[in-house]
Amino acid sequence: MLDRFGEEAARDALPPATHAYISGGSGDEVTLRANVEAWRGLALRPHVLRDVADMDLRTELLGVPVAAPVAIAPTAMHQLVHPDGELATARAAGDAGLLLAVSMFANHSYADVARAAEGTPSWAQMYLFRDHGLSRELAEKAGESGARAVVVCVDGAAVPRRSRFAKGAFAPPDDLRFPNLAHVGGLTTAITGFDRGMTFDDIGRFAEWSGLPVVVKGVLRGDDAARCVAAGAAAIAVSNHGGRQFDGCAATAGVLAEVVDAVAGRAEVYVDGGIRNGADVVKALALGARAAFVGRPVLWALAAGGVPGAAEYLRELVADVTRVLAFTGCRTPHEATRDLVRAGP
Ligand code: FNR
Ligand code: LAC
Repeated sequence: MLDRFGEEAARDALPPATHAYISGGSGDEVTLRANVEAWRGLALRPHVLRDVADMDLRTELLGVPVAAPVAIAPTAMHQLVHPDGELATARAAGDAGLLLAVSMFANHSYADVARAAEGTPSWAQMYLFRDHGLSRELAEKAGESGARAVVVCVDGAAVPRRSRFAKGAFAPPDDLRFPNLAHVGGLTTAITGFDRGMTFDDIGRFAEWSGLPVVVKGVLRGDDAARCVAAGAAAIAVSNHGGRQFDGCAATAGVLAEVVDAVAGRAEVYVDGGIRNGADVVKALALGARAAFVGRPVLWALAAGGVPGAAEYLRELVADVTRVLAFTGCRTPHEATRDLVRAGP
């Protein structure tokens, strides 16, 4: 979709190491590729003659109204791709009426992003630090920032090895700022400071500290999802971090339905990983996701086309979702039901 703002266009616009950091994954990148291929391995079996004359894509994510069931996944360091960093992304998201999840590793504070574009709703993503006081301060800041939810990422149990780098990791330029981490002592301290002892019991803390609903991101099993909900999660984001944490992890398309069934309507369920076009989004909706999140494609579009490019990419993705929903006989995202999807061509 929109090749002029896609991965290859971004490759031309970025230093090779930056492109490798964004586009790459861990190990042999089997999971990275499987995320994309798993959506393609599903097919839509459309309903016809269901009156789709009046399409309406609007929905709500934890009560926040958005133009479509598509949102922007939290990704680190947007200044790698645009001088205005996450403020640029917020403008593009606002243009398309979509919600932006802001990484703890953003180059702008949660509050600055929340203020950047009037009407662009944002969520604040974070991890739990061993020093819970640091996470408490961050969650409190998120609560005051204007962000509408906290996204707690739970797939950081070990330090990933990214295969496109000799030492397994990308070293960001020295001049990048990490305002959400000012009180933590900078990037390296933050990365080495994650709490590997985190359990389900810690989920509730984030709601307490921030006063916001909590999205638990990085769940790939129904049993875990049910425990997160019991522990107070308002939503579950099915995610393997875009194949960036460990290779050999299940593709998200294959586990989404199990999570949806286990949650049984007690929380919202989202999915990310390899979502690349409108049909992928509609498959996710049909399997029971309330929204699909996109990560890399937004960074590629920002790199290749700036704010106008990213806005155009997002608008085109929403237009594609609209088109595929209509073709499958759904007037709204909520009408996409599981019978629309089958395995195989
Ligand atoms: C990420 N992701 C991520 N997730 C998170 O919770 N906090 C973070 O700081 C980051 N950082 C990050 C940087 C980059 C460059 C990428 C590509 C990804 C993971 C992200 O939220 C999401 O799970 C995946 O990107 C989804 O897969 P796709 O859409 O990129 O295939
Ligand atoms: C990444 C980290 C920052 O995926 O979450 O690069």
